[in-house]
Amino acid sequence: MDAAQLVALAVAARERAYAPYSRFAVGAVVLTDDGRTFTGCNVENASYGLTVCAERVAVFSAVAAGARRVVATAVVSAAGASMCGACRQVVSEFAAPDAPVHLAKADGSFRTRTVAELLPEAFGPGRLAEGREG
Ligand code: THU
Repeated sequence: MDAAQLVALAVAARERAYAPYSRFAVGAVVLTDDGRTFTGCNVENASYGLTVCAERVAVFSAVAAGARRVVATAVVSAAGASMCGACRQVVSEFAAPDAPVHLAKADGSFRTRTVAELLPEAFGPGRLAEGREG
């Protein structure tokens, strides 16, 4: 599964976005270490704060299906926006710092960053373990 194939899956997932309020459709896909892919789209709500981003839908679907390691991620929006901070944190929980994140436009063109480039000095399980008291 190469980057272009992942982007194509995210482009298709974006078609299913439920974004009547922002009119900002996002699609995402994660590739897990067992070779499976899980897609997501943003799902908005009339109670705006309940909206869930496409990336978190994809990651949570993967985890709910038993996967634990994300080896690549692709995100698609109209103009190739990057991930929000909350989604960077969620992807970081399950992906290595050097795992690629492909940030794509709706036409399929993309740029690639690593998880660590998007979230330097991430707070993860290791930090929690070293700082736990009692
Ligand atoms: N959104 C995502 O799905 N992913 C992001 O990383 C940024 C924002 C969604 C949430 C909301 O439905 C819309 O885009 C506008 O913020």
